[in-house]
Amino acid sequence: MNTRKHLLGLEGMSAEEITRLLDTAESFKEVSERPVKKVPALRGMTIANLFFEPSTRTRISFELAEKRLSADSVNFTVGGSSVSKGETLRDTAENIQAMKVDMIVIRHSAAGAPHFLAGLLEASVVNAGDGAHEHPTQGLLDMFTLRERWGNFDERKVVIVGDVAHSRVARSNIHGLVAMGVEVVVCGPPTLIPMNIERLGVGVESDLRKALDGADAVNVLRIQKERQAAGLFPSIDEYARVWGVSADALKHAKPDCVVMHPGPMNRGIEIAQDVADGERSVILDQVTNGVAVRMAVLYLCSGGAAIESEEEQTTTEAKTTKGKQVA
Ligand code: CP
Repeated sequence: MNTRKHLLGLEGMSAEEITRLLDTAESFKEVSERPVKKVPALRGMTIANLFFEPSTRTRISFELAEKRLSADSVNFTVGGSSVSKGETLRDTAENIQAMKVDMIVIRHSAAGAPHFLAGLLEASVVNAGDGAHEHPTQGLLDMFTLRERWGNFDERKVVIVGDVAHSRVARSNIHGLVAMGVEVVVCGPPTLIPMNIERLGVGVESDLRKALDGADAVNVLRIQKERQAAGLFPSIDEYARVWGVSADALKHAKPDCVVMHPGPMNRGIEIAQDVADGERSVILDQVTNGVAVRMAVLYLCSGGAAIESEEEQTTTEAKTTKGKQVA
């Protein structure tokens, strides 16, 4: 990760690189617990957050991560920008780069938009969600949250339930978890599961209760209600009854199975109210961890050296380096 200039996706990322990234995020997590939540790691750098789609969690946590790393950041949303006058993505990005921006964080409805900018600009590009393709920082923060609970990923089973076909969160989770050796099962209406998804190394099960058998975690995807109008499932009520994660459905999972959701949630549809707020839910932990993970991604893409976990630090020199970077 310390040689990676861009973060465009988790596809092809090795277990070693993911581990280094999560270790670095672990070191940064402590910064948000301090009375003064700031380190000088990115002082002097300018980061532009280009959000062409709505966002609450991702946009705010990137902004907080940038401020906590002492970077200067500017925010761009479509409303009020010259995109509403017809300016292209290319022209928008080139104009922003002309103002000497070092990094660009982009969310866009078009799959591949971050890859396009990475090929065009000098700046580092971080994908904050591109169409139905990938949402790599969400995948990383989900893995960070699981590792925080479990210590490692050994012999774990994660079920991803919902609209897998249109989910960038699902795709990034699948690439990352499979690389870490986790058993991943996807579940949902057959119309919302891509054909041949087994090729990504996952199992497929349309019966939620069977999918949850022996599960250590369930990651619940947001159902996009417009999919019903497109005829991809019969009704919201039926979806909630068959694929909604309820306390009853969770009886089939392991007793300590954790419940995740990337947000925003449709309470009472894909996830029952009591499950969303219940003791197995780590949904707000995911949000907390998003800041640390995004700090790590920005820091490493800026050229910072990876910060290894205590166990991996075998030399005094490495410990000294860690102290310098985070303090
Ligand atoms: N999880 C996620 O991407 O949420 P936002 O759309 O609010 O950023």
